[in-house]
Amino acid sequence: MSKQEIVVACRQVCVTFSEPGLSVEVLHGIDLSIPAGESVSVVGASGSGKSTLLHTLGGLMGPTSGEVFLSGQNLTGLTAAQLGEVRNRHLGFVYQFHHLLPEFSALENVAMPLLIRGDSVADSTEQAVLILERVGLSHRLKHKPAELSGGERQRAAVARALVTYPDCVLADEPTGNLDQKTAAQVQELLLELMETEKLALIVATHDLQFARSLSVQYELRDGRLHQLP
Ligand SMILES: Nc1ncnc2c1ncn2[C@@H]1O[C@H](COP(=O)(O)OP(=O)(O)O)[C@@H](O)[C@H]1O
Ligand SMILES: [Mg+2]
Repeated sequence: MSKQEIVVACRQVCVTFSEPGLSVEVLHGIDLSIPAGESVSVVGASGSGKSTLLHTLGGLMGPTSGEVFLSGQNLTGLTAAQLGEVRNRHLGFVYQFHHLLPEFSALENVAMPLLIRGDSVADSTEQAVLILERVGLSHRLKHKPAELSGGERQRAAVARALVTYPDCVLADEPTGNLDQKTAAQVQELLLELMETEKLALIVATHDLQFARSLSVQYELRDGRLHQLP
């Protein structure tokens, strides 16, 4: 699809978590439409549903009702394999805790999405080295996650999300676990990559200053998105 088009969209998305005797509606009719090159922040109290929203947009969970579109594909009704393919090709996800695989080096972790989609080891390694250079980790290629600082781990996680050059990056409190200075560096990196790659970026964050630096800002409250004044 052309980069001018809508990359992520959802229509009337509701998510309800049901347990015996208890049913909690976390998302109550969310509509979003995000073109390439636009960055969206979502703030909201803990438990307001930010992670649920990002997981739903990224196809990690299905909505209770409503529809989600990623790069023009309606995720509803896709098989697990099709969903995996769409996510691998079009989406990068950055979590609060890096989720790097502990037994693999930074280079191997970053090359993983390319290997999974069937690229050769040589190509995957070459691309992983390039993106690790861009996030400032060319001197840490062989290090395992436990041998990296918190900021370095998060930069490696950003590199892993970006290595496929996805249309969209979803970041769930990507700097929530970092000190202020390191957080600022990772935030700057995300914004720079978003600008140069013209991706759609959606960030859930508690950091109001970071939230304000993105192009559209929402607060998630009572299951709905409210644009920040
Ligand atoms: N798998 C689940 N089963 C039941 N309840 C859940 C599940 N995931 C999240 N919730 C509930 O949904 C609400 C929103 O959670 P979450 O999306 O993690 O909020 P946030 O990321 O804004 O802190 C919380 O009340 C949480 O307890
Ligand atoms: Mg959360």
